[in-house]
Amino acid sequence: MASYDIVIRNGQVADGTGKKLFAADVALRGDRIAAVEAPGTLKGDNEIDARGKVVAPGFIDVHTHDDTALIDNPTMAMKASQGVTTVVCGNCGLSAAPYLRSDIGHFMSLMVKKPENTSKSFAEFAGKVDAARPAINGAFLIGHATLRLNTMGDDLGRTATAGEIATMRDLLDQSLEQGAIGMSSGLFYAAANAASTDEVADVARPLGKWGGVYTAHMRDEGDDILKAMDETFEIGRRAGASIIVSHHKCSGRSNFGRMKETLPKFSEAMKQQEIAFDVYPYVAGSTILRSDMLERAEKVLITWSDKVPGMGGRDLKEIAAEMGCSMREAADRIQPAGAIYFMMDEKDVQSAMAHPGAMIGSDGIPFDVHPHPRLWGTFPRVLGHYSRELKLFPLEDAVRRMTSYSAQRFGLAKRGEVKPGFYADICVFDPATVIDTATFEKPISAAKGIDVVLCNGAVVWRDGKPGRGRAGRALRRQDLQKEAKA
Ligand code: ZN
Ligand code: CU
Repeated sequence: MASYDIVIRNGQVADGTGKKLFAADVALRGDRIAAVEAPGTLKGDNEIDARGKVVAPGFIDVHTHDDTALIDNPTMAMKASQGVTTVVCGNCGLSAAPYLRSDIGHFMSLMVKKPENTSKSFAEFAGKVDAARPAINGAFLIGHATLRLNTMGDDLGRTATAGEIATMRDLLDQSLEQGAIGMSSGLFYAAANAASTDEVADVARPLGKWGGVYTAHMRDEGDDILKAMDETFEIGRRAGASIIVSHHKCSGRSNFGRMKETLPKFSEAMKQQEIAFDVYPYVAGSTILRSDMLERAEKVLITWSDKVPGMGGRDLKEIAAEMGCSMREAADRIQPAGAIYFMMDEKDVQSAMAHPGAMIGSDGIPFDVHPHPRLWGTFPRVLGHYSRELKLFPLEDAVRRMTSYSAQRFGLAKRGEVKPGFYADICVFDPATVIDTATFEKPISAAKGIDVVLCNGAVVWRDGKPGRGRAGRALRRQDLQKEAKA
């Protein structure tokens, strides 16, 4: 009998493909899965008893803003504690590279705490991530808004000139060559809202050449969502890229129930081109504080304010009452700040999550003082609340939407399945107890029922604590594409 580094014994394997649970031992050697065999047949130097537990691929958080959190906070407890072993960074038009400026404005502050963690080139940035030895892997998109900040200075309230488009396109081209996996846009945000469809499609052209993906925080997720979907699909088509629509939602009470329009539109478009979307399992969103979003929300909670400390976790309505002014005025007084907006319909969230094109992404914001609970709770919440309690989909399918489907859509070769030859990214969890514990009141709280998490064969979470494993790495496009062929 061959001996392995680690054998995870007697568990029920959810292999990531959606296949029914089966009993097996899973053997790891170095950073790879070496064997998946009948229970009791494999021997290892170290053994993990998984009786009564599920052995799944490590989860892939496809929508994050963890670019520089991987450097500042390399144990990545908020993600490892959920069973996440890879984060896709650079979403919503924002990335830490290539960044040619030294100032960090309100928008960039969503994902950068220390300016020195940004980099002028993607190659240099990926090197910084590797040097930080993060517990988990990162894959990186280049933000279209970041390209605009580099190229257009602060004159962002217009569409880019032909010369600026060419400069942004070159920056994207170089970054993809150096290992970024695609481009994101966030046309919803002021830094990019004035960009025309042509601008984004022209900047995105290198995606086709390098096999990069295009992810979109669409221009509109409310009244004009159908138009915004058409625009997104057009950009992907013109760039020759597969598309992932970010955090799909129908926002604002007047749009509740409109998944009945958007989901069939996705299904139709998925027949013509490569399209998928990510969803987080909550009825509230979170981003910077914007006064134009106040009316749309049922309730607004502040996540941080640099100007007025102590605002994190407080209801903006109460703050306004205390100040004796309108919510809009109160918002102005505490800016720059971040907020949580309750603006979705629970039924919509569920139907989006259960659609064939849906995968799970947290959209957690790592540096907020009082973050949205999705930062610590997303994956266990899908498993425990939506799959086990509400039976929205079987456990195997929930796991598939967090692993193999995500890996395929983002080109993360040899990740997302429990299969010999794949990387040893593993989450062992208790299907009977797994659940999120992070709430809007107490958002920084590790989930229950996540037993052991390994990334590239190293333990990164065990018994409610970070493990010592620091084997995560920056996943570069060229390496992923080589692996895909191997
Ligand atoms: Zn977004
Ligand atoms: Cu986002």
